[in-house]
Amino acid sequence: MKKSCLAEPLKIGRIMAKNRIWLSPMETNTCSVDGELTDVQLAHYEARAKGGAGMLIQEFTAVDGGHTVRPLQLRIDDDKFKVRLSRLVDAVHAYGTPIICQLHHAGMFSSQDPVSPSGVACYELGKGHYIQPRVMTIEEIEAARQSFIEAAVRAKEIGYDGVELHGATAYLLAQFFSGYNNKRTDKYGGSLEGRMMLAIEIVQGIRKACGPDFPIGYTMCYNDWLPGGANFEDTMVFALRLEREGIDFIDFQTEGTYETFTLEQCAAGARRQPKGIFQTVKEFKKVLHVPVSCRASGEYDPKVWERAVAEGQVDAVRAAKAHLADPELASKILKGREEDVRPCIRCLNCLDSAVVKHMALNCSLNSGCAHGEEEIRKADTQKKVLVIGGGPAGLEAARVSALRGHQVTLWEKEDHLGGNLYIASLPIGKEEFQKFTRWAERQCKKLGVAICLNKEATAQAVKEFAPEAVIYAAGADPIKLSVQGADQAHVIFARDALLGTKAIGKKVAVIGGGEVGIETADALLYKNIAEEVTIVEMQNDIGRDMPGMDKASLMGNQFPKYFPQRLHILVDTKLDEIREKTIVVEDKNWRKTEVEADTVVLAIGYHANRELYEELEDMTEEIYMIGDAIHPRKIVNAVHEGNKIARQI
Ligand SMILES: Cc1cc2nc3c(=O)[nH]c(=O)nc-3n(C[C@H](O)[C@H](O)[C@H](O)COP(=O)(O)O)c2cc1C
Repeated sequence: MKKSCLAEPLKIGRIMAKNRIWLSPMETNTCSVDGELTDVQLAHYEARAKGGAGMLIQEFTAVDGGHTVRPLQLRIDDDKFKVRLSRLVDAVHAYGTPIICQLHHAGMFSSQDPVSPSGVACYELGKGHYIQPRVMTIEEIEAARQSFIEAAVRAKEIGYDGVELHGATAYLLAQFFSGYNNKRTDKYGGSLEGRMMLAIEIVQGIRKACGPDFPIGYTMCYNDWLPGGANFEDTMVFALRLEREGIDFIDFQTEGTYETFTLEQCAAGARRQPKGIFQTVKEFKKVLHVPVSCRASGEYDPKVWERAVAEGQVDAVRAAKAHLADPELASKILKGREEDVRPCIRCLNCLDSAVVKHMALNCSLNSGCAHGEEEIRKADTQKKVLVIGGGPAGLEAARVSALRGHQVTLWEKEDHLGGNLYIASLPIGKEEFQKFTRWAERQCKKLGVAICLNKEATAQAVKEFAPEAVIYAAGADPIKLSVQGADQAHVIFARDALLGTKAIGKKVAVIGGGEVGIETADALLYKNIAEEVTIVEMQNDIGRDMPGMDKASLMGNQFPKYFPQRLHILVDTKLDEIREKTIVVEDKNWRKTEVEADTVVLAIGYHANRELYEELEDMTEEIYMIGDAIHPRKIVNAVHEGNKIARQI
């Protein structure tokens, strides 16, 4: 077999990356309250080093404890942090993997003291509000410069293989480079030279303090999509200038910043957005002599990565979300086991948990991610395990049970696997959700799980099968509505609308403005199935259960752009009656209105499917309930519960 060019080592200054698939930096939001590395982070990085990544770029690490982006952010601004960080470096080096420390100053996104070059107010995505930073004085700029240099010296003393300056995503260095944020007229602004000055001085300072051999990298964004902000031409000048200053590698972040990620064209990874940035990065690669990497930016096909490296568009690919879903991403790809890679389905739970909600980083499909990455151990006693339900919870429970050495059978009443995840994959931009079902099915089959489709579980059938343990994952069904007129033929469930199994009229009312209702409305309008859609929601806001960035992107940008006149949203409003061609709604002031609707789509939630569980509980010694059967929630809950319970049997 011909060796993939992704497997080639890459020399960066004095160090050697093991291959061309690197761990992209990602905040885990799991350090201690005072910015110390925790064992959870240690396990996180160790798992990815063990999993074959060619090089690790550590999550953004604060050079100034007074300017962290969140209360929980890894720090390197004091010698006290050296002890634990050196444990991380040693653990990663044990796998022969280099580790780069990404140095970061939050600037206007600083949670304690937002500062920026010129005090331009910035929008904080996912939160829906503006931040008003204060203008930095010259002394403060010099202090920030010094903090980067001192942090780099500390990183070298700890044993890191290099440092990378975080010059993207609208953090401090990006703010100085951006003509939108930097309106200064002193030496740190005014011209392109001035806007590059802070970064140049930091690179010069680190080079002087750390010597000629210590690798220094810079991550930049060639288009932040802000008017007058970072653009291709200026970034080209900047990259060449940094190369002249002796930088050892340059990395390109995804387009956009936290201010503009709602724009469809700039942020990879969410719905309707472009995948990959290789075509633009190759223009930089053509003129730069130092190694150039870029973020996978939503492009997770290793064949595309391979082509990008083979054709000289980039020297290495930094995979972020794909590495959360599968710590062994690199080794599986390089060993030709691509089909075993647990896929990232771009549900954005990672961003929502760590970046928007400031919780521990959380991957829907990998329950170990930022939660210890504990290996699955063989069970002491092998058991005959029956899993009822082939949705995400059941599939994960079956997979893990089989890995533990149990003899596993899975019954699914439909003729296909996936449960409600199949329905969840039908809205625009959610197609990738199906990848999980395909992957889990493949893994289960490889592990010898007996999958029985069209198999309805009954108490009698379970009794005859005589399992030693039952995992009940029967999922949930859509809730029906009891208002007058709800039993008419033109009243359908969101799933029927998405599946296209029922006729849809031109004017549609969607009852329920949660994620399901919004996505159904979006799909009907985007595919021109309906001419107009009215969403009716009882709460005072819609999309409360959606990931913050996804909601901001849809509501703030894509809906106004695609259907300015065709989507109507009624909040604080309840459905009163369904008539033949209209619905009657009532607002919070008890005012009734009639709205045209020849189809009414119900998206008011799900109820747990648990009748059989109650029967089985009395006749089965060991039985567990997981996923939506407990209470309808998200894929993350289903998969994590399946994993957790299977580890206990
Ligand atoms: C949860 C999360 C945290 C991130 N934190 C950082 C970070 O600390 N530094 C950084 O440069 N990029 C950060 N990123 C951006 C990623 O490294 C990467 O550029 C982006 O996710 C696009 O690549 P992907 O499609 O491979 O996920 C983060 C991304 C995610 C999802």
